[in-house]
Amino acid sequence: MSPSQTAPETHVTAPSWVSHEGLKRWVTDMARLVKPDRVVWCDGSVEEYDRLCAGLVDGGTFMRLNDRLRPNSYLARSHPSDVARMEDRTFICSADKADAGPTNNWMDPGEMRGTLNRLFEGCMRGRTMYVVPFSMGPIGSHIAQIGVEISDSAYVVVNMRIMTRMGRAVAEWLGDDGDFVPCVHSVGAPLAPGAKDVPWPCNDKEKWIVHFPETREIWSFGSGYGGNALLGKKCLALRIASVMARDEGWLAEHMLILGVESPSGEKSYVTAAFPSACGKTNFAMLIPPASFNGWKVTTIGEDIAWLKPGQDGRFYAINPEAGFFGVAPGTSEKTNPNAMKSLHANVIFTNVALTPEGDVWWEDMTGEPPARLIDWQGKEWTPGCGRPAAHPNARFTVAASQCPSMDPKWEDPGGVPISAFIFGGRRSATIPLVVEARNWEEGVYMAATLGSETTAAITGKVGVVRRDPMAMIAFCGYHIGDYFSHWLRMGTAVHHAPRIYRVNWFRKDADGRFAWPGFSENMRVLSWIVGRCHGRANAVPTPLGLVPQYEDLTWTGLEHFTRQQYDGLESVDTEAWRSELQSHDELLSKLGTKLPGVLESQRQKLHAELSA
Ligand code: OXD
Ligand code: MN
Repeated sequence: MSPSQTAPETHVTAPSWVSHEGLKRWVTDMARLVKPDRVVWCDGSVEEYDRLCAGLVDGGTFMRLNDRLRPNSYLARSHPSDVARMEDRTFICSADKADAGPTNNWMDPGEMRGTLNRLFEGCMRGRTMYVVPFSMGPIGSHIAQIGVEISDSAYVVVNMRIMTRMGRAVAEWLGDDGDFVPCVHSVGAPLAPGAKDVPWPCNDKEKWIVHFPETREIWSFGSGYGGNALLGKKCLALRIASVMARDEGWLAEHMLILGVESPSGEKSYVTAAFPSACGKTNFAMLIPPASFNGWKVTTIGEDIAWLKPGQDGRFYAINPEAGFFGVAPGTSEKTNPNAMKSLHANVIFTNVALTPEGDVWWEDMTGEPPARLIDWQGKEWTPGCGRPAAHPNARFTVAASQCPSMDPKWEDPGGVPISAFIFGGRRSATIPLVVEARNWEEGVYMAATLGSETTAAITGKVGVVRRDPMAMIAFCGYHIGDYFSHWLRMGTAVHHAPRIYRVNWFRKDADGRFAWPGFSENMRVLSWIVGRCHGRANAVPTPLGLVPQYEDLTWTGLEHFTRQQYDGLESVDTEAWRSELQSHDELLSKLGTKLPGVLESQRQKLHAELSA
């Protein structure tokens, strides 16, 4: 860590390991605008991390957890107004409004720059401006991208150190003329001389998360939380990267990546896109049921995948992140033992509850809640008090390397070859357990019309079906119709396009209970998918696509699951599909002339097949 004082008119001194004049100039310009008390270039060392965490403890942002129960771990409680990504405050400021499309908020870039200049002018007064060079993807990978985040939040810096490859090694790799994505972040809470700071500074009046796709810049003001502030994740790795991918012929997707190894040692990799809060982390870390003797699932990533066509005609995927920023509530030894093991030490928890022993707790972590807790807002909590102990969007930040299921190739700079794309949503009705697309175009239609019932991780109503194409509704940095065209093109960019599947773990029976056991039992569907990719599993045609029959899945260890139950899961309710199609039509009609002809034909084909 190398600090330097800023006098507004002088050049910011950079450490010797920064040789990029453009980067130094940009940092100087930013310091002149935001007027911090000091500038600190982050080197990414353990000493720096420990020092920043100690400072966060002193300032009341962090509380150190009991070192015997949860070594080297911290709890942060955010301001109650700053608990989630804010989609209504997220903007794509393309030069032309039409390029942002119907699913993004847009503002004229000139007008937005005016607003940002006003907001950022002096916004770091009294604070430290940290400069954080980071790499999305293994340093040096041809698929990786470099960003530099400027932030006045030490909480952001320590989270970025876990979530990305960060610091001196990145600045050195950048060299004197490498490309980087400038990312500017401020909590938007300057400190008057002598004023005491609060534990979670943020701006409760104004929050802006802004992307300039043409100049590939990110500006975020007013929030210190998650995807609003850790700008490598949703802002760079999805919104800006999706634009790069469109321009350069690759894919930046909201997908987990996992490996499946059969008892004979055959290894396959698949990616899966699910909207927020559909158990993506659980699926990425799945442990097969005991009856799947010799099968193994390994993790490459649990949120984002970057895929490039490889020399051999297949897509190769990397996980651009180095850590997990996972939703804590619902994570348990039952639902995700690998995640629980990852959390044994060196974790930053945000907005979970605190036990009297100095450890953490959240809803459904254990069967019985503890008798007494301190809730996520620091208040006394007892079971039945009517409030959740942890915020429903409470998070853990932890290094991926701590997860026992990480694949040996998870940091391979060349990525792993992908055999299948899986798309899934949370749907209590209508959508079958699993369907395989008959071809790329049908698969792109399935993915484009993906829908999911909303939950607490996203602001808005709970339980409403929201169309979430490719699980990218909040993350595509350009017109969604152009994104569909890009997907259609990418099917021909490789000789061996992955097969495409749609799954639904959440269908309910007539009594309102989940009809599928889910979690590790999803292995039954996954092994069928992998079998299909290797040409050894059967499927039958239906109007929706190809589906397995009861005898095509492995039932050892789940013999009580009857053919009748299974048929219920795969059944097509014509009445429900009529309204499903209506909702597809509503989404596609928003695209106007940007609706690809191929998707319109798929739409008509589906209407015809379902009414036949
Ligand atoms: C996430 C999300 O936090 O998708 O990963 O909301
Ligand atoms: Mn996500």
